[in-house]
Amino acid sequence: MKATALAHPNIALVKYWGKRDEALILPHQSSLSLTLSPLSVTTTVEFGASHDQVELNGHTAKGSERDRVLRLLEAVKAMAGKALGPAKVVSRGDFPMAAGLASSAAGFAALAVAGRAAAGLPAEPRAASILARMGSGSACRSVQGGFCEWQRGERPDGEDSFAVQRFDAAHWPDVRMVVAILDRGEKEVKSRDGMKHTVETSPYYPAWVQDAEQEIAHAREHIARHDLEALGELCERNAWRMHATALAANPPLCYLNSATLALIQHLREQRKKGMPVWFTLDAGPNPVLLTDAAHEVAAEALARACGAVDVVRCVPGGDAVLKAEHLF
Ligand code: PMV
Repeated sequence: MKATALAHPNIALVKYWGKRDEALILPHQSSLSLTLSPLSVTTTVEFGASHDQVELNGHTAKGSERDRVLRLLEAVKAMAGKALGPAKVVSRGDFPMAAGLASSAAGFAALAVAGRAAAGLPAEPRAASILARMGSGSACRSVQGGFCEWQRGERPDGEDSFAVQRFDAAHWPDVRMVVAILDRGEKEVKSRDGMKHTVETSPYYPAWVQDAEQEIAHAREHIARHDLEALGELCERNAWRMHATALAANPPLCYLNSATLALIQHLREQRKKGMPVWFTLDAGPNPVLLTDAAHEVAAEALARACGAVDVVRCVPGGDAVLKAEHLF
């Protein structure tokens, strides 16, 4: 009745931005990401507790945070088809700071894998990915390692909307992602609200959906050939297009700040001088640099020269795994 899992975060190269179903978290388009090590979240789930208890990074979860965890576990109980009683959940991330880089993807992936195991269900990436998706969309891509593709699916019940691994972590050991924390503050507009606002008010949104869907196949080809330059160009233009559709919302939504733009400018100059480095940007001001092993130290230096208060150098991460040691 008790199980513990560890999962890594992921950063999208082709982003997810916008839901066609808010309750089930079904996206308008497919997305593709790289799972990242060494950052991780470990989560222990035990069914049959006296009452529902959710502890995240040493704090008792409340409100929507708690509701999302318990909702995912209700779906686990439905999959198990038996009464498992209230749940105790303890989760801990080893992220350097909570606000700079979202840990929710790793958190919900670990919760889905641990929850299924605690309920006596077999390890099954597809089922775990569907569960993780209900916590946070991008979490469905953290159940497996390497390069994972969240296929949007067609069904209204979401049973065909999950992530599949396209290339495992060993496929491209040389690729690196360097997270540059420029700003530790909370996001002004959470991705959940930002994407809803974009879907509802941006005239560019249909073009975004069409373009992102097409880029998936191109990204797959570049990854298959280890073509860093082509993948870097693709991931930059996809990030710009996601932000362009948000900027075109009414009122406009701008996640970049002057430090973000200064770093991008500097990165372009370095690239002109021959450094293989590109960026991507989620719904916040902190860029993630894409480079290779030979240039990760230089990429960190570039980020620090542009005012990064923290930098995390990441390598391709593996699958979410069950652990023998529990958190309680
Ligand atoms: O899964 P969420 O609700 O945290 O949304 C993630 C949205 C982006 O990070 C901007 C893009 C992505 O695909 O991860």
